[in-house]
Amino acid sequence: MARHLITSAIPYINGIKHLGNLVGSQLPADLYARYQRARGNEVMFLCATDEHGTPAELAAAKAGKPVADYCAEMWAVQAELARGFRLSFDHFGRSSSPQNHRLTQHFAGRLADAGLIREVSEKQVYSNADGRFLPDRYIEGTCPNCGYDKARGDQCENCTKQLDPTDLIDPRSAISGSTDLEVRETKHLYLRQSEMRGKLQEWIDSKTDWPILTTSIAKKWLNDGDGLQDRGITRDLDWGIPVKKGAEDWPGMEGKVFYVWFDAPIEYIACAGEWAEAHGKTDGDWERWWRTDKGADDVRYTQFMGKDNVPFHTLSFPATILGSGEPWKLVDYIKSFNYLNYDGGQFSTSQGRGVFMDQALDILPADYWRWWLLSHAPESSDSEFTWVNFQGSVNKDLADVLGNFASRVTKFCRSKFGEHVPEGGTPGAREAQLIADLNAGLGDYERHMDAIDIRKSATALRGLWVLGNEYLQDAAPWATFKQDPGKAAMQIRTALNLIRLYGVISSPFIPDASAQLLTAMQAETANWPDGAEGALAALPAGHVFSVPDVTFRKISDEERSEWQARFAGTRT
Ligand code: MF3
Ligand code: ZN
Repeated sequence: MARHLITSAIPYINGIKHLGNLVGSQLPADLYARYQRARGNEVMFLCATDEHGTPAELAAAKAGKPVADYCAEMWAVQAELARGFRLSFDHFGRSSSPQNHRLTQHFAGRLADAGLIREVSEKQVYSNADGRFLPDRYIEGTCPNCGYDKARGDQCENCTKQLDPTDLIDPRSAISGSTDLEVRETKHLYLRQSEMRGKLQEWIDSKTDWPILTTSIAKKWLNDGDGLQDRGITRDLDWGIPVKKGAEDWPGMEGKVFYVWFDAPIEYIACAGEWAEAHGKTDGDWERWWRTDKGADDVRYTQFMGKDNVPFHTLSFPATILGSGEPWKLVDYIKSFNYLNYDGGQFSTSQGRGVFMDQALDILPADYWRWWLLSHAPESSDSEFTWVNFQGSVNKDLADVLGNFASRVTKFCRSKFGEHVPEGGTPGAREAQLIADLNAGLGDYERHMDAIDIRKSATALRGLWVLGNEYLQDAAPWATFKQDPGKAAMQIRTALNLIRLYGVISSPFIPDASAQLLTAMQAETANWPDGAEGALAALPAGHVFSVPDVTFRKISDEERSEWQARFAGTRT
């Protein structure tokens, strides 16, 4: 049994995520976690909210709430939506947890002891109009790298370059818009990432199997030199993890907190500690996932994230881990995503454009969204959500191909044989062909899932559903029944077993529909198939089943136009 540690980029606490965020990290991570569990492997799937930094402070201020209260409320909202989308986290933590405070301060202490942190008297942007320093997102301006005019103080969204607030051209305050800014001196800690260039280079070069999107971004920032500049890891903010050296105070750093991008990835580790606490487990129970000296050397660790997150996961976080000199687990595979666009433009949280997780679940169950999003995951390039495409995909793949198959087969059986698997007949050449085709299709599906090629996996799964439809078309049990009821019984027995098989193998993509099919088939086991032959004999003659409710309904043209209009404007 293999062991898989899986993390999704932890979503910012500020507000409900849109479908583009969902498909860029949490949803594909869930697909992979469910698949690995279904294959019988041991999985630890972790996610959390990213609660520190300027996004949280700005959102809380806008909501008129103390930031701690705001974060607690939004954590609950995000956790509930995650349940709604059936995201099967073993734990959904918080980067503001005591575990993360301790661990972040611990890492800083280790890095300091290793000589990898320097104290810098630094120039920081101070806003006279706002009466405060303007770190990160509190400041906006033009990107010095690509010229994008809405770059933020911490990163340019357009070209992914990591920035410092003083890098921006024509800077302005994100709070007041004021350009009455001045540069003042203040002391901060810098992580000497550049010291680790050699180690990072060697490590990234060894990852020959990584997706091109991941390695191209990593190498771009590693080689152009700039990406590995020493980075400030402290900020002048109230909300965050207080700067300490392990458990000790850090002279000169009073009142400062760690930079959100320093503590957020450390939450991947701390989250396992939160999981242990929540389930009454020991430290050893979570350390066996994270410490190579405590059992994690046989763990395979996979991370999921949008492309803008790649530099932090290929350079900054590994620098923290390697620099600590402690045996923490490094990531084995990074699956990154391009962007999902929305109906001719971009999804945008700030502009409220697109469909957000709560709105999506208000209009249709999770599986409809899961299927469309995953089967159109922006892997090799950006992809686009359109309502026409969504309607087509739901109506064809889910309603016609899968749902209709289950409904036709079970209803026909009920009317001719009753609600049990019928007896009689012997499989012939057409069934042998079906088994051969299914085995080939299953092999493709597993290969693509193992490689986390998500669109190809969806295509392979749909292909397996299509094989059932073609079989039913050829076998035509409704016609066979008239001359040879025994043969029709064998055909229907085969088809009922296909429904069970679909329930098993579709569960990573559409868990609710799969559970519904398995319940209707009264399947006692849902083990991953060894091969099609065994899978088609799982439900023997006489086995009782029931006709499932409509598995997937169609989206009408009226609904489609109504939703298109409803979600065209901005969310209020
Ligand atoms: N909150 C970040 C975002 O949504 C992701 C943080 S991932 C972690 O882009 F590595 F920091 F945890
Ligand atoms: Zn840029």
